[in-house]
Amino acid sequence: MTLVLGFETSCDETAVALVADGRRVLANAVASQIDLHRKYGGVVPEIASRQHLESLLPVLREALDQAGVTLDQVDLIAATQGPGLVGTLLVGLTAAKALAFALDKPFVGVNHLQGHIYANFLLPEVPEFPLVCLVVSGGHTDLIYMEGHGRMELLGRTRDDAAGEAFDKVARLLGLPYPGGPHLERLAAQGDPAAVPFPRAWLEGTYDFSFSGLKTAVLHLVRGPNPPAPADLAAAFQASVVEVLAEKAVRAAVEKGVRTLLLAGGVSANGALRAEVSRRAEPLGIRVFAPPLALCTDNAAMIAAAGYYAWRYGGRVDDLSLSADPNLGILSG
Ligand code: KG4
Ligand code: ZN
Repeated sequence: MTLVLGFETSCDETAVALVADGRRVLANAVASQIDLHRKYGGVVPEIASRQHLESLLPVLREALDQAGVTLDQVDLIAATQGPGLVGTLLVGLTAAKALAFALDKPFVGVNHLQGHIYANFLLPEVPEFPLVCLVVSGGHTDLIYMEGHGRMELLGRTRDDAAGEAFDKVARLLGLPYPGGPHLERLAAQGDPAAVPFPRAWLEGTYDFSFSGLKTAVLHLVRGPNPPAPADLAAAFQASVVEVLAEKAVRAAVEKGVRTLLLAGGVSANGALRAEVSRRAEPLGIRVFAPPLALCTDNAAMIAAAGYYAWRYGGRVDDLSLSADPNLGILSG
């Protein structure tokens, strides 16, 4: 058995996990800072870095206890290298490198976005290549074609806001707490998606996305003379985002001739998105995978899994001089 210790501190969750053979999650400890940042309506980088410093060792201890293992049993150490906030990334990355040095274990830096994809490899059934993956998080919206481990091609991406960012901004306009995605989804369940005819940005002939026009359309209605009911606005906004994401992801799977379609990132927790992608893909013989809810948003189990595959199938071991890269692109690393 290969025991991987993973660290994730790219944004506002301090997370440490232990994963066996890139598949079995022995521990997945997460200390969320959401309450700390809520009153500011978003993540304050300085506060986040300091909180990571305070939480990291207690969360590491919690993960070791959960798994019932000791540090000397660890075979590989993985940590998020980027993208994310540079100050928060440095906390997890530096701790991981220090442990790798002290324990004399190999170390691997992991791309956070590839980590999201690898959350799907923690499912009971491992997805088969080649595949298409829709990565939808707070900072990114990317459509990826993957032929095998480490063999990725970018098919399309957002030209402005990320899907999660659009959810968060619209939620804020509707007076919902941060982070808005899950709150907006709950409100949308009580509304009529057909009540407001929001536009769909198809950007025909590309796999690219755009959500800023939709966000502006919501803004004008909310500030206008006769704003629709918030639940109807939420439902119609969500329907517009979900329809474009689902249509483009499934079209990419068909055009690439793959039978596997993955959803990844925080927005893949959205029930409407999961249902719509399955509804469109399954009659075409395309299998849809999405991580369990706890592994959709930021966690370290996905980082440990991605680190395992990079090491096992890519022969990757990083030097301890590896530095954080806040702007790491999804294909790097
Ligand atoms: O992947 P993630 O945890 O962090 C980043 O790497 O960005 O994604 C967080 C994003 C936030 O924008 C959050 O509002 C969104 O994922 N999100 C959702 C849902 N759960 C989380 N968006 C829509 N519906 C949800 N159920
Ligand atoms: Zn993330």
